[in-house]
Amino acid sequence: MKITVVGSGFVGQTTAMRLLQKGLGDIVLIDIIEDLPQGLALDLKEAAPVEGYEPSVTGTNDYADTAGSDIVVITAGLPRKPGMSRMDLLGMNAGIMSDVISKVTPGSPNAILIIVSNPLDEMTFLAADKSGFPKERVFGMAGVLDSARLRYFIAEELGVSTSAVEAMTLGSHGDSMVALPRHATVNGTPLPELVDEETLQRLFQRTRDGGAEIVALLKKGSAFYAPSASVAAMVQAIVEDSQAELPVCAWATGQYGISDVYVGVPAALGRKGVEEIVELDLNDDELAKLREAAEGIRAKCADLATL
Ligand SMILES: NC(=O)c1ccc[n+]([C@@H]2O[C@H](COP(=O)([O-])OP(=O)(O)OC[C@H]3O[C@@H](n4cnc5c(N)ncnc54)[C@H](O)[C@@H]3O)[C@@H](O)[C@H]2O)c1
Repeated sequence: MKITVVGSGFVGQTTAMRLLQKGLGDIVLIDIIEDLPQGLALDLKEAAPVEGYEPSVTGTNDYADTAGSDIVVITAGLPRKPGMSRMDLLGMNAGIMSDVISKVTPGSPNAILIIVSNPLDEMTFLAADKSGFPKERVFGMAGVLDSARLRYFIAEELGVSTSAVEAMTLGSHGDSMVALPRHATVNGTPLPELVDEETLQRLFQRTRDGGAEIVALLKKGSAFYAPSASVAAMVQAIVEDSQAELPVCAWATGQYGISDVYVGVPAALGRKGVEEIVELDLNDDELAKLREAAEGIRAKCADLATL
């Protein structure tokens, strides 16, 4: 498969590396900065003999090279700088997203778009709107990352292997992330049976603040290892048509009583994109929080119309 990664910053370049290492397809890395994607692609190709992957990566500034892509991962965007309001960031990244969509979709009309740029929920909505693509072919990455962070924090807290921990977060990326205590398990035992309520809430809050914790430590830029791993897991599910159930920012069409809005829900991913939104057994409280998160996203997306 041909997979384009738009934006060759930290998330874009590490995503390209992971996709190559997993042998998932021919990768095209593109950016507006001249020579940057070309230099990164050359570096990645030179690593191929050592790593043992195919050097199937092209770096470019020309969208003609992205034509015929099966999957397009969009990581182009600016992080928030001191003094910038959320609306300022929204305005700038909305401009970048519109620019990218207008250039990448004509040559790849059948592609699946995976949105990574922040603010994630709004950018996913905008990409769907501007591309006009069927909504099952446009979705965002956040839930895999938030769930991975939660799984790591649980494993660290209990001193167990991360592979023993299952957990999923839904809703929005950030404050209105919905944690599902009953669906978090360690070696099959529900988490609430293993830790007290205070610990549970501390783990969930650390997950909600997971991005900010990394930003504060890095001082410059935001997380990219776990984000790129999360994108690669989504791409792998599509390429392998595995129907793996992953939490993604997907267009709800009545599931959980939520309609016509992007929201973080578990979805089976395959060659068609979101093949099915999976309805977990949620209790009234969990359902109320998920619906609240969806209404929050609906309101945020309405902000786009005021730009
Ligand atoms: N969804 C998530 O969970 C998640 C996680 C991490 C990062 N992010 C977001 O991903 C985005 C990228 O993060 P990063 O750390 O790679 O940032 P970065 O600054 O390292 O890279 C962004 C790249 O986008 C490029 N770019 C800007 N405008 C462009 C355009 N019009 N066309 C093509 N490329 C363009 C820049 O030149 C830069 O190389 C940010 O918006 C960040 O907030 C989201």
